[in-house]
Amino acid sequence: MAGQEIYQASTTAPVNIAVVKYWGKRDPKLNLPTNSSISVTLSQSDLRTHTTAACSSKFPSEDTLLLNSSPQDTSGARTQACFRELRSLRSALEASDFSLPKISSLPLRIVSENNFPTAAGLASSAAGFAALVRAIADLYQLPASPTELSRIARQGSGSACRSLFGGYVAWQMGTKDDGSDSLAVEVAPASHWPTMRALILVVSAEKKGVSSTSGMQITVATSELFQRRAEVVVPKHMSEMEEAIKAKDFEKFGKVTMMESNSFHSVCSDTFPPIFYLNDVSKAAIRVVEDINKKAGKIIAAYTFDAGPNAVIYYEEENTAAVAGVVKGALEGLDGWQSREIESQDAGNLDARAV
Ligand code: ADP
Ligand code: DP6
Ligand code: CO
Repeated sequence: MAGQEIYQASTTAPVNIAVVKYWGKRDPKLNLPTNSSISVTLSQSDLRTHTTAACSSKFPSEDTLLLNSSPQDTSGARTQACFRELRSLRSALEASDFSLPKISSLPLRIVSENNFPTAAGLASSAAGFAALVRAIADLYQLPASPTELSRIARQGSGSACRSLFGGYVAWQMGTKDDGSDSLAVEVAPASHWPTMRALILVVSAEKKGVSSTSGMQITVATSELFQRRAEVVVPKHMSEMEEAIKAKDFEKFGKVTMMESNSFHSVCSDTFPPIFYLNDVSKAAIRVVEDINKKAGKIIAAYTFDAGPNAVIYYEEENTAAVAGVVKGALEGLDGWQSREIESQDAGNLDARAV
């Protein structure tokens, strides 16, 4: 039995921004999606979650989670599913190697910080649950692959499964009822397309009115457009996006990214009652990107919006002045926006260390 020691591990995880969006669950309990998705993992040098997981017999018997210094409820099914899966892997390890301290049943204490707005459509649940799962896996010294961890992180928040990898990542929806094949896989590493850049426009750091979890639930229940999106639009965008990434074809990548974002937000408007994540500044950003592409005579910039008003604009390094410079200049006059330029290269190599 473990004594009074405190066992501890810390890790960081990056956000990922989908270019083919996940929106809809076929099984809300296991968090299985109605469609596959693809994202780009952003560099950890800017937007990231830092999480420390600790366990000890000295801790109060309840598992605890402190997010940005405020206590969170850990009794929810999604957090519990992650804890349960990780504990059971540790317990199997302990059963096969008696020299390991028996820590799988000790209370967990998780402390997490996001260095960017939480619940504002910048994928905090993605970085948050990827970091949580990875920190506990490190604490338990599990020999688990990123794909295996992605299956667990998916149960915390769907988009989190993609933050276990850097670069270009697909979440394959899978076909099995138990979710064992609903996993993230790498499409290409960040080094495959090192000139890719992302500009983040923080239009609002406010918590969104409708969370992703409840928004997609209402969409699935009420939108007529949704079925066509899941069955026809997304499968087409998935194969086009994989081709665009493999060929480093920015025009194709950009077109699918923008059409995907538009399709997703159309389905949100088609939800009853309608969900509006974009605001006037978001729409102004779309117009600026359109003008930039018109002037260039080709697609050199691509906008995308998750479930919130904040824009992410992808472009290639050589077009930095024509894209990032122009976007900032054009929006500077508008109230209430900030921009953070971040590089999407060398993304997602989780900096895991036991302390
Ligand atoms: P977002 O667009 O930021 O992903 P969501 O509505 O999908 O917004 O999820 C926000 C929720 O994710 C938060 O209310 C919180 O429950 C959870 N979350 C965010 N960051 C973390 C974190 N670092 N650790 C654990 N859970 C987190
Ligand atoms: C619009 O992964 O946050 O960002 O699984 O309910 O936690 P839950 O939802 P979440 O949804 C993300 C939706 C999205 C698109 C995407 O990231 O693919
Ligand atoms: Co989220």
